[in-house]
Amino acid sequence: MTMKKIAVIYKSKYGFTEKYARWIAEELNASLLEADKTKPAALHEYDVIVYGGGLYAGGVNGISFITKNFSSISSKAIFLFTVGAADVTDQKNIDAIRNALFRVLTPEMREKIKIYHLRGGMDYANMNFIHRTMMGMMMKMLRKKPESDMSSEEKAMIETYGQKVDFTDHSTIIPLLQDIKAITESH
Ligand SMILES: Cc1cc2nc3c(=O)[nH]c(=O)nc-3n(C[C@H](O)[C@H](O)[C@H](O)COP(=O)(O)O)c2cc1C
Repeated sequence: MTMKKIAVIYKSKYGFTEKYARWIAEELNASLLEADKTKPAALHEYDVIVYGGGLYAGGVNGISFITKNFSSISSKAIFLFTVGAADVTDQKNIDAIRNALFRVLTPEMREKIKIYHLRGGMDYANMNFIHRTMMGMMMKMLRKKPESDMSSEEKAMIETYGQKVDFTDHSTIIPLLQDIKAITESH
């Protein structure tokens, strides 16, 4: 049996995705690579590619790293994880993330890439001006909604607005780890 080499690549704005990428790399003895500092050619030596990015207005941060370089990595096993503030135990949220993602993935990519959804958090104190403004606009719209029409998540967003919330949970990476181990530990 030959050892399969794994690369965990991530793009993280406020550290939530990075935390998950670190946990995953540690559990798998994988190389941890920051997308912005990684040249596509450096992926040659790996058999398994894991990419993680935060969700921003529905899109996966840095997903072009995978889509632009797809032809050179399509022979490898590819896993993708998204990290967002939304509750990913709620199927409605998963459907929304997948619908947005499927608009940027070709049918071949959709078939090839295994996708997972993890929950990050919000850190208003660290937020840059643009993100702060976007969140402020979203809050303004949300507050116009009658409370009876609000989901529990929307209510929670209003309650935690301006604060720090962290939903990162090590146990939620288990399904991803198991699926990767199933291909790297097979003979
Ligand atoms: C402007 C803005 C837009 C966001 N849009 C989404 C979104 O569409 N869906 C979601 O689940 N989370 C959204 N989030 C929350 C981030 O995905 C969350 O903070 C995540 O943990 C960020 O990971 P990172 O720090 O690794 O970049 C948004 C956050 C900001 C600041």
